[in-house]
Amino acid sequence: MCGIVGYIGNDNVLEILLKGLEKMEYRGYDSAGIGVRNDEEVKVFKEKGRIRDLREKVETDFDATVGIGHTRWATHGVPNVVNAHPHQSTNGRFTLVHNGVIENYEQLKNDHLGDVELVSSTDTEIIVEVIAKLADEGMTTEEAFNRTLGELHGSYALGLLDEEDPDVIYVAKNKSPLLLGKGEDFNVITSDAMAMLQITNEFVELMDGEVVLLKKDDIVIKDKEGNAVERDSYIAEIDAGDIEKGTYDHYMLKEINDQPAAMRKIIQEYQDEDENLKIDPAIIKQLRDADRLYVIAAGTSYHAGLIGKEYFEKWAGVPTEVHVASEFVYNTPMLSEKPLFIFISQSGETADSRAVLVEIKKLGHQSLTVTNVPGSTLSREADQTLILHAGPEIAVASTKAYTAQIAVLSILAQVAARELGKDTGINLMTELAKVTTAITAVIDDAPAIEQIVNEYLETTRNAFFIGRTMDYYVGLEGALKLKEISYIQAEGFAGGELKHGTIALIEENTPVFALATQERINLNIRGNAQEVEARGAKVCMISMEGLEQDGDTYVIPHVHEMLTPLVSVVVYQFIAYYAALHRGNDVDKPRNLAKSVTVE
Ligand code: F6R
Repeated sequence: MCGIVGYIGNDNVLEILLKGLEKMEYRGYDSAGIGVRNDEEVKVFKEKGRIRDLREKVETDFDATVGIGHTRWATHGVPNVVNAHPHQSTNGRFTLVHNGVIENYEQLKNDHLGDVELVSSTDTEIIVEVIAKLADEGMTTEEAFNRTLGELHGSYALGLLDEEDPDVIYVAKNKSPLLLGKGEDFNVITSDAMAMLQITNEFVELMDGEVVLLKKDDIVIKDKEGNAVERDSYIAEIDAGDIEKGTYDHYMLKEINDQPAAMRKIIQEYQDEDENLKIDPAIIKQLRDADRLYVIAAGTSYHAGLIGKEYFEKWAGVPTEVHVASEFVYNTPMLSEKPLFIFISQSGETADSRAVLVEIKKLGHQSLTVTNVPGSTLSREADQTLILHAGPEIAVASTKAYTAQIAVLSILAQVAARELGKDTGINLMTELAKVTTAITAVIDDAPAIEQIVNEYLETTRNAFFIGRTMDYYVGLEGALKLKEISYIQAEGFAGGELKHGTIALIEENTPVFALATQERINLNIRGNAQEVEARGAKVCMISMEGLEQDGDTYVIPHVHEMLTPLVSVVVYQFIAYYAALHRGNDVDKPRNLAKSVTVE
């Protein structure tokens, strides 16, 4: 949700910043800009829309070796050129990019900027004007920067250029993600390592409250008290090839296709040489000590958490609650005596989840983050981490992270069951291997699923997804996927719940996707399908081998009943993909969205 980059070195900075922003465009794509400097001046180029639109604006012959850049997901102020970053102080001296939200911007304005005419509707412009004001009053840039930071309430990752000092980028971080990158005669800042893999894979983490003076041959990190901080760098183990979409038309299509490989990787990572499930003993201790699990997540990760609850309760017998992070913070339920909080987050950066983590840490509770991004904020700040091993997920609509989350939660729950002496009667890794084959079969069948889209979704404005038990949870995810990229209004419902109100929305030809992969409720969900069909709905019945009936629209290969979500969801991922594609939408970057939601 907004991404920033910065570079200081000897090479021309324009292409480095633009390429970096392109790699981070998933974080926000309603406007973008760069501020670059040569020996004499700082120039700012900004544009509404995508990085490709910004490229058109940039004077490619401007020979700059220092610069900052930003790709925006609007929080304060509509997406337009004026509100795009970087923002410059009225006197032209300071240029700033910011990822985050400043809560007390009105206060800052009243306290410092009574006489300054602001041009944008952003909180960021206020920060840069306050710095300029304080510098005008005689402070050094570092002093003005620090003083301003001391007055900010909210989240920020900042990169600041001072026209009077070509040798430094001033950097600060609080709550928003930011990394420093190191190279031979250059250094960088970036919200995501991926953006700077083009020039370095060596990074240094930055902690909240730290300030950095970034020079081309030196990095000075200072803590809140101004003391110098020494921190080792690490090598980011991301293959640059993993962040390219290769021969696929879209990242989403690639990531759907990545799922069998992700499953194989998970099986490999969470198994020892004797083929026993392998989890860090510190996490096993957390599980053993807990009397109740609280799963905290948002969006697709929340939907994966709902499936995880089935595993923890049915296999391990551990009571489990699943909560939407943004609600939990303000409406905390009664907690058990020894809760374990499990944060599920693809990005590991979701601000809503982090807000919960901060609160429960204050209460002294144990935490575990299940994430795809090692070193992410939620991973760093929780007591323990489990990695998804799905590889970078770039499309805004989450696909392979969802299946990886379910697979890793199933492993965790099996380990919990083992530790608690419960016999679940399932050889999980063998069953996950069968799942991998089944996912591959569905992927190979993509053309048949495209036909479903042709038949059910070409002209509709709405669609419903129904199911019971785990199929209901997969329906929630199917509906989310469809709405977020095709813009068809889609809702998921428990099959039995429709007739308590929602069935009023069923009209002639309303598409209803019904999932039947659970033997126990196979007949019930088919009964619910008949109820809507009798009222004109066009039902697409998706079932599983062994449970299928004549007339079913699509039948997934047979897998263990507890693991069907891993396969059935792939059908829904393709349905969403083709529906968006046929409507001419930008599949990877749907409107109004961004991938890492780093504001609350
Ligand atoms: C939907 C989607 C979102 C994310 C949600 C949480 O396709 O991707 O709903 O699942 O924003 O993000 P993470 O998992 O990064 O915490």
